[in-house]
Amino acid sequence: MIEFVWGKVIGTQVIFAGEEYNWQESRYAEAEKAFRGEYLETYFLPKEEGILFVGTGKEDLANVNVLKELMAKACKTLKQKKTEQFSILMDRILAENEISVLTACTEGICLGLYSAPNYKSRQEERQFQVSVIGIPGKDLERAKQCAAEGAVITEAVIFAREMVNRPGNKLRPEDFAAEIQKLVKDTNAEFEVVTAEEMRNSGMGALLAVGDSSEYPPCMAILRYRGEPLRKDVTALVGKGVTCDTGGYCLKQASGMAGIRGDMAGAAAAAAAVYALAKRREKVNVTAVMPLCENRISAGSFLPGDVLTSYSGKTIEVGNTDAEGRLILADAVTYAIHHERASRILDIATLTGSVVSMLGFSITGVLCDDQALWREFEAASELSGEKYWLLPFGKEHEKMIESDVADIKNVGGSVCGTITAGLFIRSFAEGLPWIHLDIAGTAWTETPLYEFQNKYATGAAAETIYYWLKR
Ligand code: BES
Ligand code: ZN
Ligand code: ZN
Repeated sequence: MIEFVWGKVIGTQVIFAGEEYNWQESRYAEAEKAFRGEYLETYFLPKEEGILFVGTGKEDLANVNVLKELMAKACKTLKQKKTEQFSILMDRILAENEISVLTACTEGICLGLYSAPNYKSRQEERQFQVSVIGIPGKDLERAKQCAAEGAVITEAVIFAREMVNRPGNKLRPEDFAAEIQKLVKDTNAEFEVVTAEEMRNSGMGALLAVGDSSEYPPCMAILRYRGEPLRKDVTALVGKGVTCDTGGYCLKQASGMAGIRGDMAGAAAAAAAVYALAKRREKVNVTAVMPLCENRISAGSFLPGDVLTSYSGKTIEVGNTDAEGRLILADAVTYAIHHERASRILDIATLTGSVVSMLGFSITGVLCDDQALWREFEAASELSGEKYWLLPFGKEHEKMIESDVADIKNVGGSVCGTITAGLFIRSFAEGLPWIHLDIAGTAWTETPLYEFQNKYATGAAAETIYYWLKR
């Protein structure tokens, strides 16, 4: 629990200081000697209730990630010192920014104070009181509004992280659907679930081929939010929700299985984004379509060489059962178009190992067939601070997923794995504007890259999608 207070000095004071800091006050003399002001350096001066200096180095204080990191670093340091009441001096940060930076700063504070739940038998619940100091009176109302937005974004990101971190045995497809329903219960978003039986009746052969590999049945969670009911356009967010991916009969090596529980980060981000939009009552129409299943081995599960008939009617040759994400997304995209009347499609998935080889853990790989859409998305990424890279594609890549026996094949060749995976999904988008996010590298990190991350799930893309759809 974090309580925000405004303008009242309480507890330890946090001061952001660079190398050029003006040490007028002689009571800081000790700090002046010991603290160089390098980026993310901290120095605690035990005067009165304490002063924590946090270095800003030569970093650009208008950069979203820098701000989030500084805030998170300060809060983490105090959390470790068991300090639960403190004040953050904002004057240096406000000198370089509009008051709207309070959104990102609040995210940094909340994520810095966040402790991920675990399965140890003892866990502590702590209460923090954080005072924000140095907001001019005329800006205070706006500052509070921005902080409220930052708090909602953080809640959404934390939801995504917590879902992704749940071990497979603690989050079966139906459990995940129930968590999504719980998430939105106090919002205007509508929740619906398509059951395995309904999928069978309507012929979702691609999603079911994967889902039937497990004794825990698949389902498809739908979150519908209509913030602008008079308009017809609807953005569909189609997110991969494989709660555990063993590879199926194309079984992964033991060493490749560490991340198998994190294969539903796409669905988690889609649900998180809709939650934040609905909670903030943004004027937008959006539906998240989240196919949820496990990819396992059972006596009757699908095999390489099988031909599946997808919900769209298109047939798919299975080249590899471990390329399951695109199969379930194919049926979900068709559902989004035909049941949710989607006018454009974003799909998001931990889809390929290739994207990790290519871009590592900080940059999400993107495919998009609509220039204007990509520009909008890129602008949103500047607000969130998350990094994306647009990948090229052409007819030559489409050729790689042609099949001799079916309409399309679920694997390409040995090269361009990220591109062919994306194009497979695009072939179900029926010509609608389409953007594809491969978060296989960015959804999960063993060693956090930024101060506002924790080990494991990152909640990747939820915030960028929120900003993209917020008008
Ligand atoms: N979920 C995996 C992709 C993945 C790999 C996510 C590493 C996170 C970290 C996906 O289902 C998969 O197994 N993809 C295969 C596709 C291949 C068989 C064409 C891959 O990338 O190896
Ligand atoms: Zn797989
Ligand atoms: Zn997978």
